[in-house]
Amino acid sequence: MTESCVQQERRGHVSLLRLASENRLNSLTDELVNQLAAALLRNEADPAIHATVITGSDKAFAAGADIVGMSKLDYSTAFGQDYIGRNWDVLRTLRKPLIAAVRGYALGGGCELAMMCDIVIAAADAVFGQPEIKLGIVPGAGGTQRLPRAVGKSNAMLACLTGESMTAKEALDTGLVSKVVQPDELLDAALSMAEQIARHSLPVIVAIKEAVNRSFEASLSEGLLFERRLFHAGFSLADQKEGMAAFLERRPAAFANR
Ligand code: CAA
Repeated sequence: MTESCVQQERRGHVSLLRLASENRLNSLTDELVNQLAAALLRNEADPAIHATVITGSDKAFAAGADIVGMSKLDYSTAFGQDYIGRNWDVLRTLRKPLIAAVRGYALGGGCELAMMCDIVIAAADAVFGQPEIKLGIVPGAGGTQRLPRAVGKSNAMLACLTGESMTAKEALDTGLVSKVVQPDELLDAALSMAEQIARHSLPVIVAIKEAVNRSFEASLSEGLLFERRLFHAGFSLADQKEGMAAFLERRPAAFANR
């Protein structure tokens, strides 16, 4: 299915969403974010989709929120219409894994979009940064909150306060991304990572994502309790019986996703 700003392909249990508003380096207009959110909600509702890869163009994953649109905003409109919150926040409600496959610029909202994903994989030419300070604004889609969690306080302060970019290698060294590959290998690497995830049991995939995300919200003892409850609940799944039987019978598991 193709929409004007977001192209969608399906590969088995994996959905590939390509941001395709290349004239402005995939700047994240409301229209683009609305289409992305709608595509992701469709994936959530589709039991055959287990994981999604979000990618951009060769030159830009996304160069940030749309500066043309923002230049016309005033406080009353931004607050009254819940700018950013109204559509970008859909991404943090999603239960299935998202992989960001980043080539080129991932700046401002582009870097924040990547950080909303569960795993970030980058091409060697990727450029990450939070340049909002140069526009006279603070990051508005999680840059000051998710970046320190990913790269630590000093690196996040450096990026947000100077507005200077990070190379893919710096992003790898600081933990912002999990893997750096050659640009022409990026999509295959991201899709094969997604396929590796997607062949597992969907309820277990969802439970693991919930548990890892809980580690950012809860104390250690609350997080451990949450994990233990999920662990115990897992023994009610047909897929737990199948996974363990398959191991003992030395055959691949055939998960039924229940
Ligand atoms: N919004 C709107 N348009 C943008 C844009 C953005 N974020 N980024 C790039 N563009 C447009 C440019 O204006 C230009 O448009 P025209 O062809 O109509 O002139 C086109 O995309 C190509 O850009 P450049 O000519 O600038 O390309 P370049 O290769 O010389 O530079 C770049 C690339 C370094 C990414 C530069 O475009 C740039 O600095 N972009 C802005 C990055 C930025 O500040 N992002 C943060 C936005 S604020 C934000 O995201 C808030 C938030 O937290 C939610």
